[in-house]
Amino acid sequence: MSHDVSWLEQYMSDAKAGTLAAPPSAWWIVTRACNLNCYYCFADARKKDPDELDTAEAMAVLEDFAASGLMFVTFLGGEPLVRKDIYRLVDHSTDLGLYTALLTNGLNVREDKIDRLVDAGLEMIGVSIDSTEAATHDSVRGVRGSLDWTRRVVRHAVRRGVRTSVRIVVSEDSYESIPDLFRWAVDEGVEELILLPMFMVGRAAGGAEDRRADIVGKRLFLDSLRRLRRLGEPLGISVPVQETLACPQGIELRPPTDRHHHAGHAAGFELSSGCKVGRFMISVQPNGDVYPCPFVHTSIGNLRTRSVTDIWRSPLLRRARGEDLGCLARSMIHTGRADVADPTYRADAARLLAELPAPAEGGDRPAAGDLPFVPVDGLSLASHRARGEG
Ligand SMILES: C[S@@+](CC[C@H](N)C(=O)[O-])C[C@H]1O[C@@H](n2cnc3c(N)ncnc32)[C@H](O)[C@@H]1O
Ligand code: SF4
Repeated sequence: MSHDVSWLEQYMSDAKAGTLAAPPSAWWIVTRACNLNCYYCFADARKKDPDELDTAEAMAVLEDFAASGLMFVTFLGGEPLVRKDIYRLVDHSTDLGLYTALLTNGLNVREDKIDRLVDAGLEMIGVSIDSTEAATHDSVRGVRGSLDWTRRVVRHAVRRGVRTSVRIVVSEDSYESIPDLFRWAVDEGVEELILLPMFMVGRAAGGAEDRRADIVGKRLFLDSLRRLRRLGEPLGISVPVQETLACPQGIELRPPTDRHHHAGHAAGFELSSGCKVGRFMISVQPNGDVYPCPFVHTSIGNLRTRSVTDIWRSPLLRRARGEDLGCLARSMIHTGRADVADPTYRADAARLLAELPAPAEGGDRPAAGDLPFVPVDGLSLASHRARGEG
């Protein structure tokens, strides 16, 4: 794709104003098949859905995106590299002029696979990690040896010069490791670190204390960002903290040379402030259903039968463009509805927690040990195991 980015500033300001005819960015779960089994997976990934878009349908969606003015596509899953046609999709996407990114768990991703992606035009690769300790990362992700793969993929991607991001879900398992992961990412030459609060959706959901876990998880996430802000300061790395919202946050460890170009991609999610629903992005399911955000699980249309421009006019998105509703993922978690304001937005966490029914006493909750917080059901592998999952 062309690296002339003079158009981007106006494009992003139109996105912010909510005047674009299509979203700037699509986060596309191209398959629900996955070779790992993370206990918190928001996509509840395991097996391929029977109605997954096939290659021809996926190509047609990319063409619709390009025709609409959408600029940035991120392939995720499940594990997108499990799809045999992923290189063709990346190739087609970049041929159409779409800035194309891909998120991977790294497992079995040998150097030649990364090379093929880069040769197909991939511009950004994101790799997920949960801890510097193999025992923790591997048990959270469900496969022994997966941390080694993650590290190797990051190293080779940086070497190949594709923009590389490392993504950390803040949980009771990852919390302690986050400063070390930050230092490791800086040392490896990683360009972007993404911190994600754990959203109690998909496989993370279903516990009696999901609402409590969401409020505590948001605190843990903000606390982690504040710790990174202190670490980043002497290195000249700025760490933004959106105190009220707690939406996934990008941290530029190395500002891109072509700054606006890359910032434009991430503005679809991690680098712009405020809720992105209705302004910056959509999330696409394997069967073409469109969700307002990867963490807001309600369909607003299907790309098999409607264009992205048409779906972008959905009443829910128009409402989100007109009102500041907070985080719609949290509206869903706390009320079961996406069309109401987020009850945790700008609210005092201690008051919210006090208003929830008291947690069940005892049970199999992990002990606090050395953790700087009291463990909450849902935010750790141990608590999912105690529920009989994981
Ligand atoms: C669903 S994964 C798909 C891509 C790939 N399989 C991977 O693991 O990176 C996309 C990203 O979402 C993160 N994620 C998964 N479940 C989450 C949740 N409940 N809340 C926040 N982020 C989550 C993952 O850690 C990963 O960084
Ligand atoms: S609903 Fe909005 S604030 Fe919440 S995660 Fe999605 S984009 Fe961020």
